[in-house]
Amino acid sequence: MTRFTVNDRPVQYRMDPDTPLLWALRDASNLTGTKYGCGTGDCGACTVDIDGEAVRSCQVTIGKTEGRFVTTIEALSPDRGHPLQQAFAADNVSQCGYCIPGIIIASSVLLRQSDDPSDEEIDAAITNICRCGIYPRLRGAIKRAGRIMRGEERVAAAPPPGITPDNAAKSVPALGKS
Ligand code: FES
Ligand code: FES
Repeated sequence: MTRFTVNDRPVQYRMDPDTPLLWALRDASNLTGTKYGCGTGDCGACTVDIDGEAVRSCQVTIGKTEGRFVTTIEALSPDRGHPLQQAFAADNVSQCGYCIPGIIIASSVLLRQSDDPSDEEIDAAITNICRCGIYPRLRGAIKRAGRIMRGEERVAAAPPPGITPDNAAKSVPALGKS
């Protein structure tokens, strides 16, 4: 059994401790917002927040996650109200959208450290790959999110999601009761 916290809920996985966190989240917890891109730690599609750090979940096992706090894109905001989600929608950042959950999680970690990051800080923190090429809009959206966080700007609310985090994290056999 491997125990840790996912999106503020204690969980224990009846899986091999060497299982990559990405697959426990996606296959056992049905948290499919976290994406598989490369499996080699390069693309960042699988990025989650672990104890306040942006971590590529394909590169960490559930055994190494024991006792830690994991946050996925599903729990960033229950209503798409996070400033990054608002700014990404307002700036039409998403193209196919596949890389976006990982980029938003990495950006949320950055903005928690600084709500007014420089271009250089953004480039250093967001090393995720986007094959659609959203890069020209990315810095602007992150800076806009910072302005929203600082109370300097408001944008129209994005439409509500079609699924709640509760429904996204269904109970399945691989996920034991805490
Ligand atoms: S799937 Fe983890 S970094 Fe690409
Ligand atoms: S929006 Fe398509 S991969 Fe980034």
